[in-house]
Amino acid sequence: DILLNKQQFLQMKHDQEKITMVTSYDYPSAKLVEAAGADMILVGDSLGMTVLGYESTIPVTVEDMIHHGKAVSRGAGQTFKVVDMPFMSYHISTADTLSNAKKLYQETGAQALKLEGSGEVSETMAKLVKAGIPVVGHIGLTPQSVNVLGGYKVQGKDKETAARLLDEALEIERAGAMMLVLECVPRQLASLITEKLNIPTIGIGAGADCDGQVLVYHDILNYGVGRLPKFVKSYTDGNQAFGDGISRYVQEVKNGEFPEEKHTFTMNMSGLPKE
Ligand code: KIV
Ligand code: NA
Repeated sequence: DILLNKQQFLQMKHDQEKITMVTSYDYPSAKLVEAAGADMILVGDSLGMTVLGYESTIPVTVEDMIHHGKAVSRGAGQTFKVVDMPFMSYHISTADTLSNAKKLYQETGAQALKLEGSGEVSETMAKLVKAGIPVVGHIGLTPQSVNVLGGYKVQGKDKETAARLLDEALEIERAGAMMLVLECVPRQLASLITEKLNIPTIGIGAGADCDGQVLVYHDILNYGVGRLPKFVKSYTDGNQAFGDGISRYVQEVKNGEFPEEKHTFTMNMSGLPKE
């Protein structure tokens, strides 16, 4: 059984118990994140960068999200999983949106889907909720719109955009979202939005006052990533640790140190066929 549900996340906000969310993209990462006791897993379209090597989340498809979402589900059967709807999979028509959402939700076994944006996207969220699919919002820096926003930068720093983001947050709550991700907004604004909303806010680059925090798995582990943004804290050096392990193996095979006798199977010589 899934350990936590939508109602319990609301209760956690009410009790000021921080909600922890980590991304996962495959079976081993999902297992580690579940074992670490994270409250939620996000199968983020950040997988485009972290595991597929794209420059942005824009090339990620519904099929990619399903492929990775299924692996995560097999690794973290007890954890509440949110799957991202990828670029343009919820913009073309209501029929396309509903059919993409149905596939993502049914085939991955996720507990909710996440959509970036507001306005028409809020209306889309309301339709998904009506159809029975829990949704999570995502505003501030919305990476699927990076080329419209003009880069990966902090959003809502002036009065007008801050007011607009607050309005968007309230609209997303009215649309029936169960939670809202705030990415790269000043902590004062994230704090205000968190106070005004009944649903929990999950921050990334949004300060300590959000109801919860999310970070990307590979950023936490400094694994496979280069320069890390300001809002990331790495808790271990995966590049160093994993890189060392692989190069020692390569060296030991080259110089004959591996495999040793203890890694080797033997047989009675009398069983060996004669030439
Ligand atoms: O895809 C992702 O990892 C995300 C988080 C950064 C919120 O959407
Ligand atoms: Na995402």
